[in-house]
Amino acid sequence: MLLQGQVCIIVGASSLRGIGYATAELFAQNGARLVLVDLAMDDRIISDIVASIANKTGSDPIVAGLKCDITNPADCERVVAEVVARFGTIDCLVNCAGIVLAQSMLSIVEADYDRILDVNLKGTFNICKSVLTVFAARKAGVIVNLASVAAQRGGGLVGGAHYAASKGGVVSLTKTIAREFGPQGIRANVICPSMVETAMLDDNLSRDKFDEIVAGIPLRRPGKPSDIAGVCLFLASQLSTYVTGATIDVNGGSHIH
Ligand SMILES: NC(=O)c1ccc[n+]([C@@H]2O[C@H](COP(=O)([O-])OP(=O)(O)OC[C@H]3O[C@@H](n4cnc5c(N)ncnc54)[C@H](O)[C@@H]3O)[C@@H](O)[C@H]2O)c1
Repeated sequence: MLLQGQVCIIVGASSLRGIGYATAELFAQNGARLVLVDLAMDDRIISDIVASIANKTGSDPIVAGLKCDITNPADCERVVAEVVARFGTIDCLVNCAGIVLAQSMLSIVEADYDRILDVNLKGTFNICKSVLTVFAARKAGVIVNLASVAAQRGGGLVGGAHYAASKGGVVSLTKTIAREFGPQGIRANVICPSMVETAMLDDNLSRDKFDEIVAGIPLRRPGKPSDIAGVCLFLASQLSTYVTGATIDVNGGSHIH
């Protein structure tokens, strides 16, 4: 039980096929008290998630679901206040919220650029800032952000230039948080997955492109949400107490650098 009693917010966790859900399931197995936050969260989604976790773990998880648009700073502050009111504190934030568009540079219009940057970079900034007010007051806390191999290799797999740039921003933002808040006992790390089989790929990748990418991965398979969840658990837990500001590759060897 690596997270026994820990209050963990997982943002971007409304899809049973997603990285956020896989992380929630693993965290619940490790004793965490979970708040799952998503733009799409509603009563039906959270009850399906609770039923699925209970089915997998064989026990009743402590899980709350909250709707939030992380592009809106006031919404992030409201959610963080609600979590503190209900659970008393926050120990960990895992931010899996994100959107992608498979577009070539010259086809990206201003509205696409703004939407991708708003959710992936500004949204990450907003939710981190809100949680950091709680972490700074208690001089403890852990942040795990989700970027992408797109930030490291210059896009080219699924997302366009706007997606790669937004995820590069998430890497820089996370490093800055680690440096600024390290003296207060707060850790922040970022994960760069490559292609993971979630709903995010559905409208953004042809079967041929998918097969071509898999053929180039040394481990010869796409990532599973549980592959990422395992690293989130490591970074959220006491197993990684001297790890901060790190960018962790979870890519099957597809980008070795
Ligand atoms: N799937 C991949 O191949 C892959 C690869 C590299 C990185 N990632 C990153 O991993 C993270 C998780 O992605 P996933 O594959 O599980 O996809 P997903 O679509 O299942 O999860 C993303 C979630 O973010 C939520 N979201 C979108 N906008 C939001 C907003 N404004 N406020 C709150 N929530 C919002 C969505 O509702 C969704 O539930 C994302 O940051 C993604 O960019 C995914």
